[in-house]
Amino acid sequence: MGEHVTLTYGGKTVELPLVVGSEGEKAIDISRLRRDTGLITLDYGYANTGSCYSAITYMDGENGILRYRGIPVEELAEHSTFIETAYLLINGTLPNRTQLNRFSVLLNDNSLVHEDMRSFYEKYPRASHPMGILSSMVNALRSFYPELQSVEEEINITMTRLLSKARTMAAMSYKISRGHKMVYPRSDLTYCANFLNMMFDTPVKPYRLDSELVEALNVFWILHADHEQNCSTSAVRVVGSGRVNLYAAISAGIAALWGPLHGGANQAVIEMLTDIQRSGGSIMPFIKRAKDKNDPFRLMGFGHRVYKAYDPRAKIMKEMCHRVLQNLKRHDPLLDIAMKLEEVALQDAFFVENNLYPNVDFYSGIVLRAMGIPTNMFTVMFAIGRLPGWIAQWKESMDDPNWKLCRPRQIYTGPKKTDYVPLDER
Ligand code: SDX
Repeated sequence: MGEHVTLTYGGKTVELPLVVGSEGEKAIDISRLRRDTGLITLDYGYANTGSCYSAITYMDGENGILRYRGIPVEELAEHSTFIETAYLLINGTLPNRTQLNRFSVLLNDNSLVHEDMRSFYEKYPRASHPMGILSSMVNALRSFYPELQSVEEEINITMTRLLSKARTMAAMSYKISRGHKMVYPRSDLTYCANFLNMMFDTPVKPYRLDSELVEALNVFWILHADHEQNCSTSAVRVVGSGRVNLYAAISAGIAALWGPLHGGANQAVIEMLTDIQRSGGSIMPFIKRAKDKNDPFRLMGFGHRVYKAYDPRAKIMKEMCHRVLQNLKRHDPLLDIAMKLEEVALQDAFFVENNLYPNVDFYSGIVLRAMGIPTNMFTVMFAIGRLPGWIAQWKESMDDPNWKLCRPRQIYTGPKKTDYVPLDER
């Protein structure tokens, strides 16, 4: 037997195998624990529990490392495009020119949304949150695009449809929420340029594409493209394990991402920075609240379940804030507040001792504001960026011969056996 751990309990001793990942991470394989000992494990938030083997993304939380299929995210942010990175995550290798062109054509061919979906949007209450709309509309796609006979074709077309149409649907919900005419995708524009054009082009004032903003959007979405087994990716895998279609699994991922502790943090950061601005810019009351164990307030955009160092994505995002604002010859007072907040927090023992650093959401909202994206669409922007990761992780789980229905156990703490009491005797 290879390397293992020994567990002694109730007079019995069992050996549980140790598994080792390609970067040396080790785990105890407990798949036979209950059978051999009658015991299960308990791990709130799964902070110590691996759910799968995966070859897609590697994170080293202690050293702030993030790689997609082995390539450092810094290199992809500098040299790649969002679509090329999406191809890498989903297919496992960078595409050659022919593969990339074919992928781009497929995305363009699938960028339109069924016209009957407009009535869905029109019936949605105007004040609905765009994340709720996106989750519903993605789930509705199965009704408009039934399963294809060939499994191979079904998977490839469904993945491409999703990646392309989710972007169109996001822009569509923005236009309809403003009572504006929907703008259709154009075959002469790249994925990111198309999105900005669909969001901001109007019949009275044609949108002038700014190559710097298109580049910034590519980087923004590359930084969000995958992050191994986070909350929403785990939701996609868990829902997918029931063998439901990809649209439904991704719809669950969008719902999971919406929460302020997860992807919803980018909207919550801007709301927090705006509160600080409105309170005259004084940071200390917010730092004090964040440190108060009796106060549920959290410093939004700070802390991470895995990163106990500076989130490498936040570093790139922070630099991008300065670059984008400089190119636009604009100043955003919220950036000054964010940088001051970071400076004060990183000199405070509470944040240092708890390894609380800025995460991807801390500066991302400043970039989105500069692009003109409304605050309530910030998490939708995160969702579009995360689509390639969700799709890649779903596909990997479907291709994994050991993948099975996800069904955790529990420790029951309710009442022991009691008898039913008839209504008149209660
Ligand atoms: C994302 O998982 C991913 O990969 C997610 C993500 C991705 O790309 O998919 O990276 C995207 O979701 C980033 C995180 C966005 N959320 C926020 O910015 C919300 C604010 N952050 C916190 O809510 C918190 O840091 C979490 C939820 C992100 C992590 O929570 P953990 O794992 O419970 O944090 P921890 O155990 O490291 O906390 C140590 C202590 C705790 O004290 P105790 O409750 O154990 O006594 O530090 C405290 C926490 O309470 N703490 C904070 C804090 N984050 C942790 N205190 C104040 N402000 C914070 N932001």
